[in-house]
Amino acid sequence: MIRRVYVLIFAIITITYFIPSQVSAQPYGYEGVQVCGTCHKTEKQGLQLKIWQESAHANAYKTLQTPEADKIALEKYKKKAVDTPECLDCHVSGYDVKDKKLIGAKFKIEEGVQCETCHGAGSAYKNLKVMKSREESVKNGLVVWKDKAELKAGCVTCHNPKSPTYKEFNFDKMWAKIAHPVPKG
Ligand code: HEC
Ligand code: HEC
Ligand code: HEC
Ligand code: HEC
Repeated sequence: MIRRVYVLIFAIITITYFIPSQVSAQPYGYEGVQVCGTCHKTEKQGLQLKIWQESAHANAYKTLQTPEADKIALEKYKKKAVDTPECLDCHVSGYDVKDKKLIGAKFKIEEGVQCETCHGAGSAYKNLKVMKSREESVKNGLVVWKDKAELKAGCVTCHNPKSPTYKEFNFDKMWAKIAHPVPKG
């Protein structure tokens, strides 16, 4: 019983730890994938921009524009999918940010699940001086994860049965499809 409580507390902590990247209450602004991509696109950096562009996450908004998506949304919410907050929640970032100052000029919700959806809104950590220090980046809003369990918990905030088309989520297989490490050495 006590163990179960601990597991629950751990789950709550990890989930709330990840959520700030997605809720509108955060004080940092979204810059958009093109801004992150200005640096994270070279072979030396690890081609993060290209890997993301070729991933399903880049199409998450476009998916909501398909007849298949509208069929699901109209049945459940009587709205088109792109007008349904319950769909946008997992398919884009930033749609619910009220303070327009927190939306950078290059940010587009059409880019779906983008860098900042997972790494946190980047207005304060995106400059080179901050980025070069992991510690400073984290102080300025970069979300990091301490182990594999936290990484997985982050994915599962979206990859879960609340998704109307949910498919079982195998972390190792799914991470392999989107991994974008900085090359060592
Ligand atoms: C001005 C260039 C620049 C921009 C713009 C930039 N970064 Fe970085 N970023 C870096 C550099 C340099 C590092 C250090 C990486 C390394 O070890 O080579 C870094 C590191 C990182 C790391 C790894 C942190 C760690 O230690 O685990 C992440 C994640 C990251 N950036 C995400 C982003 C995101 C998301 C954006 C857009 C909001 C962004 N970056 C914008 C240059 C940039
Ligand atoms: C903000 C919500 C969100 C988060 C967080 C998220 N995803 Fe996704 N993911 C999606 C959506 C939405 C799709 C479907 C995109 C589409 O097909 O249009 C998707 C699709 C994918 C796909 C392609 C599906 C397939 O079967 O090949 C992979 C792989 C994937 N995600 C891996 C991950 C991993 C690994 C993590 C955690 C590191 C993660 N995702 C975190 C929303 C999310
Ligand atoms: C809890 C997060 C979540 C919510 C809410 C959500 N989705 Fe998704 N959606 C995903 C993920 C993750 C995927 C990719 C893998 C999967 O289906 O599990 C996805 C995939 C899709 C796909 C592609 C399915 C396929 O087989 O390629 C469609 C279409 C879709 N979603 C429509 C919608 C619509 C319409 C809504 C709103 C009624 C919605 N989603 C709400 C997370 C979500
Ligand atoms: C679906 C969520 C997701 C998306 C989208 C995403 N990342 Fe990541 N990223 C992660 C996770 C999880 C890690 C692994 C962190 C770890 O190992 O601790 C990571 C790691 C990184 C690293 C550090 C790699 C290393 O070897 O230290 C950089 C840099 C990075 N991401 C940049 C980006 C950029 C730039 C984009 C957009 C072009 C992006 N990420 C999109 C989840 C994501």
